[in-house]
Amino acid sequence: MVANTLTIRDNRTGREVEFPIESGTEGPSVVDIARFHKEFGLFTLDPGFRSTASCQSKITFIDGDAGILLYRGYPIEQLAEKSNFPEVCYLLLEGELPNQEQYTRFVRTVTNHTMLHEQILNFFKGYRRDAHPMAIMVGVVGALSAFYHDSLDVHNPRHREISAFRLISKIPTIAAASYKYSIGQPFVYPDNSKGYVENFLYMLFSVPCAKFTISPVLVRALEQILILHADHEQNASTSTVRLAGSSQANPFAAASAGISALWGPAHGGANEAVLAMLHEIGSVERVGEYLKRAKDPKDTFRLMGFGHRVYKNYDPRARILKQAAHEVLAELGRGDDPLFRLALELERIAQEDDYFVTRKLYPNVDFYSGIIQSAIGIPINMFTVIFAVARMVGWVSQWKEMIEYGEGIGRPRQLYVGPARRDYRPVAERL
Ligand code: SDX
Repeated sequence: MVANTLTIRDNRTGREVEFPIESGTEGPSVVDIARFHKEFGLFTLDPGFRSTASCQSKITFIDGDAGILLYRGYPIEQLAEKSNFPEVCYLLLEGELPNQEQYTRFVRTVTNHTMLHEQILNFFKGYRRDAHPMAIMVGVVGALSAFYHDSLDVHNPRHREISAFRLISKIPTIAAASYKYSIGQPFVYPDNSKGYVENFLYMLFSVPCAKFTISPVLVRALEQILILHADHEQNASTSTVRLAGSSQANPFAAASAGISALWGPAHGGANEAVLAMLHEIGSVERVGEYLKRAKDPKDTFRLMGFGHRVYKNYDPRARILKQAAHEVLAELGRGDDPLFRLALELERIAQEDDYFVTRKLYPNVDFYSGIIQSAIGIPINMFTVIFAVARMVGWVSQWKEMIEYGEGIGRPRQLYVGPARRDYRPVAERL
């Protein structure tokens, strides 16, 4: 019987050590190298974590080569079609789909925590009106710990549960307030007679002087966007939340760190960058010029919304969003939307180009989501905010799992390549 181990030999000394290979439910097995430094006095080096698993998790599974995404074992295609966002939140947090009683209780609790402490509204007034809503979100979410002293003990399961509900319930209210502040309109308090997604759109778009109505097609489109963005294994922002939370920082501080990491255009900021790119390209005639730039290693331009560290196949979320874009635009009588047409043509041409084909660069979740959000009426600078609203439940679920696993503080090491030890010299002796 072949031992389930990996033998590593240091050829400098001839020393060989066996390390255990652990297998999960799906996907690649891992070699447990926790003893590696103790056995060899060496560190492993993997700056982009391309070959490194940072934890074990039961929440989300991605098969990048096959283009598979599962939340607690359920295919994302089925959840996007048949489920709703509160139910997906319950699934990610608790690990199972809720029965009717569990679902009703969960929705009631989430609904009853949507309001913000009235003092929190003062935070917004400290920002310039033209502040990016993500800058506001980072600040306000981090400041929540200044208001909820009663639930900051990360080792107390009840505190973790209360904080989870507060973050999931209040993030739409904070996001909507960030938007209202940036356009100079009054904040809209949540209306708890509305569902989670409709309430979010209500807080975003209603005004005191008009009756609020919105097409159920648009509500459903945003709900699908939230479902598709809810979690995604150990991406940059989730890893940030785990690392920040591993120091036993409170969950509001850890969530704020996640929002900061998500903001980057290489990550959650890509959806905003896709729309800016499509506007800059402007017409199908200019696609060739931009693809040439995207392929030029000396040009920093990247085809935003394309490529992925894990997916080397079509991102299953992009496939769903592409279809949803067709449906939303048709519902709005904008089936010939020029930006959508340009995106479709850009994808078609790129998918026939050897550079993208050989590098397995496909549209990712960000490529079509902005087109749908624009059609709903969400401004470009709110796209990443929407991503943060969706991903909050993923961050909280992963944070909770990390605390419950009791992994302790995350503290990577390094390969030091700086100056060797040297003595201080007075300035008079420096050239
Ligand atoms: C998200 O991790 C997650 O799960 C993230 C996310 C989530 O749900 O949390 O899925 C959300 O962040 C999606 C990604 C959004 N970002 C973008 O759309 C920005 C554009 N994409 C690239 O910046 C890039 O593809 C990354 C950052 C997403 C991935 O970077 P990698 O892992 O370095 O890409 P790679 O190793 O696959 O690249 C292989 C080659 C390289 O060229 P060579 O060195 O082989 O010549 O492809 C090139 C890259 O330069 N390449 C691109 C490209 N993406 C990769 N060339 C042009 N345009 C691109 N978009």
